[in-house]
Amino acid sequence: MAERTLVLIKPDAVRRGLIGEIVARLERKGLTIDAMTLRTMDVTLADQHYAEHVERDFYPPLREFMTGGPLVSLIVSGDEAVSVVRTLIGATDGRKAAPGSIRGDLSLSNRENLVHASDSPDSAKREIALWFPDFAN
Ligand code: TYD
Ligand code: MG
Repeated sequence: MAERTLVLIKPDAVRRGLIGEIVARLERKGLTIDAMTLRTMDVTLADQHYAEHVERDFYPPLREFMTGGPLVSLIVSGDEAVSVVRTLIGATDGRKAAPGSIRGDLSLSNRENLVHASDSPDSAKREIALWFPDFAN
């Protein structure tokens, strides 16, 4: 079923010049880019985006990292886009992510892991409303 998901190309990827590489992998899979914006996340948005993690020990350095430079936010659509994109990006820890996945090929970190993608259709709805209020449905 066609669905939408929220993708962030994180500040480490932008810094490393990997925007094109990551967008190309999404496009080559057959997914569609419905919206794409370069912006710097402020702490308010970070706390909302990562609401499930704000109490975790890893959150302060994560917030520092995510608000520390520009990132690219995208709405990506296609058949089962939520789970398809999660598979494309790979496991959270780049050191353990499978080769062939974005994190598995390009990240060696559990924090600076290049990409965020919504983990369920409900998360996608919530995150799209947060990042692209004009696209919420
Ligand atoms: P999480 O939602 O568990 O992973 P994913 O991005 O794969 O959905 O965690 C959100 C982000 O928090 C993760 O991409 C990187 C960071 N993080 C850490 O810095 N340390 C950790 O131990 C974990 C689990 C995540
Ligand atoms: Mg997550």
